[in-house]
Amino acid sequence: MDRLTVLSPAKLNLVLDVLKKRPDGFHELRTIFERISLADRIILTRHTEGKIRVRCDHPHVPQDSRNLAFKAAALLKEKFSIKEGIDINIIKNIPVAAGLAGGSSNAAAVLAGLNRWWSLGLGTKELAGCAQCLGSDVAFFLYDTPFALGTGRGELIKPLNIKTKLWHVLVTPRVKMYTKEVFTRLKLKLTNKKDNVNILLPFLKNGNIQRLAGALSNDLEPVILSLRPDFFHLKKKLFDNGAIGVCFSGSGPSVFACVQSQKHALSLREKFDKRYTQVFVVSTL
Ligand code: C5P
Repeated sequence: MDRLTVLSPAKLNLVLDVLKKRPDGFHELRTIFERISLADRIILTRHTEGKIRVRCDHPHVPQDSRNLAFKAAALLKEKFSIKEGIDINIIKNIPVAAGLAGGSSNAAAVLAGLNRWWSLGLGTKELAGCAQCLGSDVAFFLYDTPFALGTGRGELIKPLNIKTKLWHVLVTPRVKMYTKEVFTRLKLKLTNKKDNVNILLPFLKNGNIQRLAGALSNDLEPVILSLRPDFFHLKKKLFDNGAIGVCFSGSGPSVFACVQSQKHALSLREKFDKRYTQVFVVSTL
């Protein structure tokens, strides 16, 4: 087999607690990841020329060694002295630099795909070790789980055995938010921090969507809103249209709403489609 097609899904953060700034410059997090149905498609093709090549149909995705999927392939190729080359064709559906970890997911899909293809025999934990040097969000996608707790920089993953399926409307304004800039502008409070993960978890476990929606939270929200005060109106509009909870994902600008059903999600999308160009109905994957 010379061709392998893999799906590379996006994530949302249902909670994102920022605990402290670390000496290495990263922030210590406590987050709940949700894998969602919005996904890129990646076609891997092997060849004998030895090179790694990346192609992508999105103008803002680098098609060279800056691409995280390229870095993932280069890492395994070098570590295991693989001679074979690989073409990585990314068909983008996940908005770029949007708080949805599309690039990280692409890198994880390449790590997992090449592990199988090159018979490297790496387990999930070993692959997650490789993922760390690529980015904080890569490891989550290596675990076959819809929900996980992320700690450390976000790279320490504990899969959660939760069967709940959520429906969301996801709106991604066409604005770039730079993760580094958002974290740099964050002013951490020194007062006792609420454990938002443990507040939300029981509602997620027992599928209480109403209570879960009220417990969504993201510590980066004040920074995102200070950079783009107009997003406040986007959040309000989602609430005004019946969303039961609204939250930013990661460092933004993607905003997602929790809704009771697919039907409600579809009707909300219709309303927001006129104003925003990137509106998606997504569910837990
Ligand atoms: O790991 P990733 O490449 O996604 O991180 C991008 C930037 O976001 C980092 O260079 C850092 O400035 C910031 N970041 C952080 N704390 C984290 C994750 C990211 O400060 N836990």
